[in-house]
Amino acid sequence: MKGIILAGGSGTRLHPLTKGINKHLLPVGKKPMILHPILKLQEFGIKDVLVITGPESLTPFAQLLGDGSEWGMRLYFRAQPKPGGIAEALNLGREFVGGESFWVLLGDNLFGESLASMQSHFPLKEDEAFVVLKEVPNPEQFGIAEMKDNRIVDVVEKPKTPKGNLCVTGVYAYTPKVFDVIQEINPSARGELEISAVNQFYAQAQKLKHHIFKDWWLDAGTMEDFLTANEQMKGTES
Ligand code: DAU
Repeated sequence: MKGIILAGGSGTRLHPLTKGINKHLLPVGKKPMILHPILKLQEFGIKDVLVITGPESLTPFAQLLGDGSEWGMRLYFRAQPKPGGIAEALNLGREFVGGESFWVLLGDNLFGESLASMQSHFPLKEDEAFVVLKEVPNPEQFGIAEMKDNRIVDVVEKPKTPKGNLCVTGVYAYTPKVFDVIQEINPSARGELEISAVNQFYAQAQKLKHHIFKDWWLDAGTMEDFLTANEQMKGTES
């Protein structure tokens, strides 16, 4: 499998830290944030990874990561002209993935578990997709999975009245069919192509498989969780 890491966006919730620097270049523990998802993919044996970011960040990303050979990987970069949503960014990976199924990680998500612990859900059938869930105390701030009989039946982005507290984290796996699904979805009220609209399509078709994180998980995109992520990494890294 190949991997895609999404590391664009505007990072406004981390202002002023992100006024002059891409969020994913900020330190989390002893490493820039982006290295954490890269190492998750490396640990799982993924060799080919596409990093998608804003045009202004291509140079610093290339300076930091090079061609990936330091990690025994092949890294590729692609610019998303404007932050038009996670699904819009993902759509830029179409040529890169070719015919195989692939992992997608949001560059600001940090977690303890290895991708290997999810292996029983693979391989995916062509019309299936896979997400990782985690219980959260503040479901209004995430994409939320509605469950029935241990299956995901709907996914709603930042619901005002959440039907449950299982967040769809930024760990996904898709087959190339996802690019057809992205063509079908419409921009949300905030003008973005939402990954939750893509996942909703699979959920309503009863084709969205899932794993629930047993270990810790954080979205380091808010100030509070960014600081928690740094605490979390203290002493756990060599
Ligand atoms: O962390 C999990 C949550 O991430 C999910 O529960 C939500 O469903 C999902 O929409 C997302 O919510 P956020 O509000 O945290 O999304 P954010 O705008 O912070 O973007 C998350 C990552 O995606 C970030 O690392 C940068 C990347 N991104 C985002 C946008 C909007 C891009 O590469 N391009 C973009 O246009």
